Amino acid sequence: MADFVGALDQGTTSTRFMIFDHGGNEIARHQLEHEQILPRAGWVEHNPTEIWERTRAVIESTLNKANLGHEDLAAFGITNQRETTLVWNRRTGRPYYNAIVWQDTRTDRIASALERDGKGDVIRRKAGLPPATYFSGGKIQWILENVDGVREAAERGDAIFGTTDTWVLWNLTGGTDGGVHVTDVTNASRTMLMDLETLDWDDELLSFFDIPRAMLPEIRPSSASDAYGLTRPGGPLGGEVPLTAALGDQQAATVGQVCFAPGEAKNTYGTGNFLLLNTGNELVRSKSGLLTTVCYQFNRDKPVYALEGSIAVTGSAVQWLRDQLGIISGASQSEALARQVDDNGGVYFVPAFSGLFAPYWRSDARGAIVGLSRYNTNAHLARATLESICYQSRDVVEAMRADSGVDLDVLKVDGGVTANELCMQMQADILGVPVSRPVVAETTALGAAYAAGLAVGFWSTTDELRQNWNEDKRWHPTWDDDQRHAGYTGWKKAVDRTLDWVD
Ligand code: G3P
Repeated sequence: MADFVGALDQGTTSTRFMIFDHGGNEIARHQLEHEQILPRAGWVEHNPTEIWERTRAVIESTLNKANLGHEDLAAFGITNQRETTLVWNRRTGRPYYNAIVWQDTRTDRIASALERDGKGDVIRRKAGLPPATYFSGGKIQWILENVDGVREAAERGDAIFGTTDTWVLWNLTGGTDGGVHVTDVTNASRTMLMDLETLDWDDELLSFFDIPRAMLPEIRPSSASDAYGLTRPGGPLGGEVPLTAALGDQQAATVGQVCFAPGEAKNTYGTGNFLLLNTGNELVRSKSGLLTTVCYQFNRDKPVYALEGSIAVTGSAVQWLRDQLGIISGASQSEALARQVDDNGGVYFVPAFSGLFAPYWRSDARGAIVGLSRYNTNAHLARATLESICYQSRDVVEAMRADSGVDLDVLKVDGGVTANELCMQMQADILGVPVSRPVVAETTALGAAYAAGLAVGFWSTTDELRQNWNEDKRWHPTWDDDQRHAGYTGWKKAVDRTLDWVD
């Protein structure tokens, strides 16, 4: 068998390809950003053609850097930004519209109409999700209603839907020349269209959005020994490699963090934050504002489910300090600026730019900076921004505790923001729980590689993968209970100020 596994991570801001060896060590990577298209307030789009071009380029560059070819890869796994919605023509390969990104709020009327018409509870029960702009169903409906010719083409089976895993898989396996139209259970569980128990598209849910079944991909397990397809020799790999895994990026990170047992959880700090708690084969319905989602399904095993707390804006709030306010020149500078002061100086920042996701699910919320006095400086704002990442995570941990009764002994973390040591210390202080970062912080790509490698016997068991996990650093809480309580009370008051902002 070949010595390596490849994993593509098609994320919200960039696309990267990574190659791993049997020990889960990174051999090579290449990463390219793509444009964030912001046509109006609340709208966020990506260009699907650009995403495919970036995918080709990162695969070719990584193989070149490592001096490897397709024959060195035992399997190929894909992980991706979830919910982001594409519709394209299977005969021409042309997208009908830009990809509508998960952060986009243009479908707020669709989401509120579902609730008003009493369909919200059916969606919660079957799909495990509250009606919200976040998920794909409303975005597909918007394209069907607003782009000329799509509905007729969808009914004929020519216009097809996919999240970015599906788009990349279709292109890698030949595109208009026989590309496979598939997705996996984890991505399908983010559409509001799949029944979590049957793991199939549900006719009642499809009727809520008036979506023709013919446009939907086949739903497959997240790790499949009968591969979804083979990469095409004419593509960026230059030969055939079995495509054996696809998982949404947060589920992939859960696998990369080897959270295979019920009760194990991880928190990924990226554009947003996503905390997933493995609940095993049990479907736990949240009463506290969390999502129920598929964590992974390996081959035809029973699916493993998770409770998820999704937070829309965390790392992107730091980017906002850089790009919109210009008070830092790079994300890493936020730490140095925040360290200039000992505390937040009374300032709280609630970055509700896309409304508030878990556990509030309030699309009418908008961001607020509160508690300002003349004493405050940029440094307090930087500190409040880092704290907002941690307080939002605390909100989710509180909800998880309420739903599952699980008290975390330790929080496993990963993602770009975990390089910010001050932020990780704040997280331990604000939660009152130790925070642990692994040596391989690229757990998302690693999880996709694990799922792909398990399918072909490159790794034999999940226990073998556990051996690869090593702690890099642990942060212990330093605040006393009074300080923690006072800080969180201030945060909750600040959140209240952001609600009911939009009619
Ligand atoms: O649900 C959205 C999530 O999958 C996006 O993750 O890391 O691309 O921002 P990321």
